[in-house]
Amino acid sequence: MAAEDSFITQYEYGQMLYENPRGIGCVHCHGKHGEGAVIARYKEQGEEKVLKGPDIRHADEATLKAVLKKRHRVMPTYFLTPQEIAALHYYLSHEEE
Ligand code: HEC
Repeated sequence: MAAEDSFITQYEYGQMLYENPRGIGCVHCHGKHGEGAVIARYKEQGEEKVLKGPDIRHADEATLKAVLKKRHRVMPTYFLTPQEIAALHYYLSHEEE
């Protein structure tokens, strides 16, 4: 592989982390590019329920940082470095390059 091929862009790095962030990929619950996704449909007392991962394309870096390390009912906790969070934020806030 040529030297220049081993460099990945911030966008590609962010995408890689989004799909494989040392834990279950954000992609499974927030869609291909953070637009949101249906995680599950189920019935509760005969009522149709939908569990969704919200659209996170407009989450700013401080929000990402706070949300990732928090405990949630559905979303797992992540242990990512500030650089990794910055790359994730870059990926989410940019369209396909
Ligand atoms: C198992 C499903 C799941 C995975 C995996 C997941 N999330 Fe979430 N996420 C959720 C759900 C559901 C919410 C809504 C709040 C809640 O119930 O925890 C949420 C909320 C968020 C929010 C807050 C959105 C808002 O508007 O308040 C952000 C930001 C976020 N997730 C980013 C991420 C990132 C980045 C990753 C990957 C490192 C990730 N999530 C992985 C399910 C998931």
